[in-house]
Amino acid sequence: MERTFIMVKPDGVQRGLVGEVIQRLECKGFTLVGLKQLTVSRELAESHYAVHKERPFFKSLVEFITSGPVVASVWEGDGVVASARKLIGATNPLTAEPGTIRGDFGVSIGRNLIHGSDAIETAQSEVALWFEDGELSSWKPSITPWIYED
Ligand code: GTP
Ligand code: MG
Repeated sequence: MERTFIMVKPDGVQRGLVGEVIQRLECKGFTLVGLKQLTVSRELAESHYAVHKERPFFKSLVEFITSGPVVASVWEGDGVVASARKLIGATNPLTAEPGTIRGDFGVSIGRNLIHGSDAIETAQSEVALWFEDGELSSWKPSITPWIYED
């Protein structure tokens, strides 16, 4: 089953939005398979955002992500990678649609509350970067037949 990596960034944790984010993903019908709060090391932040290392905002992005605890999670479900990106909304919260997490709660691109993997391959490498296998639980919720038609 498809998995994605979702992280509530330090601003989302400080603003008490961890429960809101988890609730939105749970209510959609996705399954939580891993969850932890941690303060991110510079090394982990730089690996996670390595694709942006030549961008002008890279230094401030790494400083921000390492500035306080984040809540890292792994979610499972059909089409979860693209669907979670839709629930999260556009990178800039001012242009993100109302009804999305960034559209409902954010104002600034550098304080956009949440990260979600942008493709299936990225999701696989991000899950492996952030979680050990033993930290993930594969399970099938008993409500599955009420969410999926076979
Ligand atoms: P993530 O889920 O965090 O990866 O966001 P994204 O996939 O919507 O955007 P992208 O990967 O392009 O950028 C990563 C992060 O860098 C964004 O979430 C922003 O916090 C930050 N960022 C991107 N573009 C800018 C920018 O132009 N200025 C600033 N200050 N930050 C930016
Ligand atoms: Mg991204």
